[in-house]
Amino acid sequence: RKHIISIPDFTREELELVVTTAAQLKAAPRDELLKGRLLATCFFEPSTRTRLSFETAIQRLGGNVIGFADGANTSAKKGETLADTVRIISSYTDAIIMRHPKEGAARVASEFSSVPIINGGDGANQHPSQTLLDLFTLQETQGRLDNLTVAFVGDLKYGRTVHSLAQALSLFGAKFYFVGPEALAMPDYLCEELDERGISYSIAETIEEVIPHIDILYMTRVQRERFDEAEYKKIQGQFVLRADMLRNARPNMKILHPLPRVDEITTDVDATPHAYYFEQAKNGVYARQALLSWRCLPPRAQSALSKTMRW
Ligand code: CP
Repeated sequence: RKHIISIPDFTREELELVVTTAAQLKAAPRDELLKGRLLATCFFEPSTRTRLSFETAIQRLGGNVIGFADGANTSAKKGETLADTVRIISSYTDAIIMRHPKEGAARVASEFSSVPIINGGDGANQHPSQTLLDLFTLQETQGRLDNLTVAFVGDLKYGRTVHSLAQALSLFGAKFYFVGPEALAMPDYLCEELDERGISYSIAETIEEVIPHIDILYMTRVQRERFDEAEYKKIQGQFVLRADMLRNARPNMKILHPLPRVDEITTDVDATPHAYYFEQAKNGVYARQALLSWRCLPPRAQSALSKTMRW
């Protein structure tokens, strides 16, 4: 497999490999791994972190990047299909990182691309590179990936980062709490997958009740762009984390958030020892460097690299 589309495409060992490589690249930066490579970032939906951390990762590894941050300014606006767009860009570049508002768009793109497609988020479906940086951050803060207790808070229905991370952690024996509005509950297909894997999860009414029991509090934004505005107004502001709610937290409990935040974490939380979301965002560069080194180098270079790095 050369594309990165969905977390279920990864084995546990592959996820561990990327996490280990990310840690090595954070400790000892490399500036040559993508020398001579040209990658494209094609974003049909807004982004700050995913696009810019990929572009940082590429440039700091010595590669070059072309692309667009606004699909509406491309020939898609004139009616060009995604298939034709991808055929063309894959004839120019060594890999394509793509974000698209439609679920399944990255999978479709992979069918027409002659180079690796890396899914930078497809609608409410998957965000695999976010999961890699989340896993790296869990390893960095908790010292392990196995048997973590994680509360997911907020929009569990449309939150693609939640879907991808829950699937990944189900390979590591996690225990989950789901906290959020009933209308934004975890999709049935994901709950069924967790059931099949024997993963324990329970639904909690409030953030406060789960805080004493967890290693990670994974906050998310309500994905306003994915549903009706009147519904959003009813739900907005229901699950908000404030610093005073953290008094019963375990000392090493960390708060993660894929960001951007809107109003779900008040700014007084930022100064607590539990806040880790800004370092998490920084880790995006290292996790994405690890992913790109693994996917975008020719096999011979990978083999040479594996002698110096443990993969
Ligand atoms: N976490 C994340 O995907 O952020 P952006 O939407 O800013 O890329």
